[in-house]
Amino acid sequence: MKKYLVIGSPINHSLSPNLHNYWIKENGLNAIYEKKKIEENEIELVIDSLRKNEIDGINVTVPYKKKIIPFLDKLSYEADITQSVNTIYFKDEKVVGHNTDIEGFEMAIKHLKFDITQKKIFILGAGGVVPSIIFALEKMGASQISISNRTRKKADDLKEMFKSLNVLEWGEVNNFDMIINATSVGLKKDDFINLDFSKVGKNKLFYDVIYNPTKTNFLKKAEEMGNTFENGKMMFIFQALAAFNIWHGIKPKVGEKIIKILD
Ligand code: ATR
Repeated sequence: MKKYLVIGSPINHSLSPNLHNYWIKENGLNAIYEKKKIEENEIELVIDSLRKNEIDGINVTVPYKKKIIPFLDKLSYEADITQSVNTIYFKDEKVVGHNTDIEGFEMAIKHLKFDITQKKIFILGAGGVVPSIIFALEKMGASQISISNRTRKKADDLKEMFKSLNVLEWGEVNNFDMIINATSVGLKKDDFINLDFSKVGKNKLFYDVIYNPTKTNFLKKAEEMGNTFENGKMMFIFQALAAFNIWHGIKPKVGEKIIKILD
């Protein structure tokens, strides 16, 4: 039986096993996908078990997407540019790290039928997932990407990676077609982002990376203002699907059932 793992800390909340085990069963594969909370000093041991074929693939989540990189033999182009790894596999005697968050975001936006080409995007936050989102937005042809983070230094660091970024002060709101909440504000039901959206106008897309709760106060605000909004659920499903395809060579269809698994 093949064995797959998602590692992180905390890990209890992870819904990756629900998705992967559903697809494993649907495709009649002899495999199992589990979650494992690990400490930083256990990373090496887990990677070793991949080398020894005791494990067949690993997903990585907070806070190890960057920290895991020194333990790998090779990075895909996407993982290298973003310095972020969420999917690991063993090929040609090498442990390879890849980043499927990029594809996850891209597919989620396509699923929405929103055309990023020539659009102005405004990102709130500069945490772990943001390099992947910027990479995807640049690939999809955004005309301008602005970013604002409470701790400005982290936004400035991202500008080192992505030179064309426009860094704004936290609190500043500029003109945009799409705004993305990539902060952790909203994970608690009562959290709200203290920004003035009164001059934003209509026909904007508000996107929240958070999918639990399904409608953060940020998205409720968008709804109140008559704007389009979307949570991060499809991004999460599509990043899992891309990892599943790498490991099993199968791209499952995304239907109602799988979407409901995350409710
Ligand atoms: P990490 O920074 O470890 O990658 P993350 O959950 O990916 O963690 O990112 C958290 C993001 O939410 C950061 O951009 C953080 O801003 P700081 O860099 O200033 O910490 C942002 N964030 C968290 N709480 C916030 C708050 N109350 N107001 C504004 N931004 C907040």
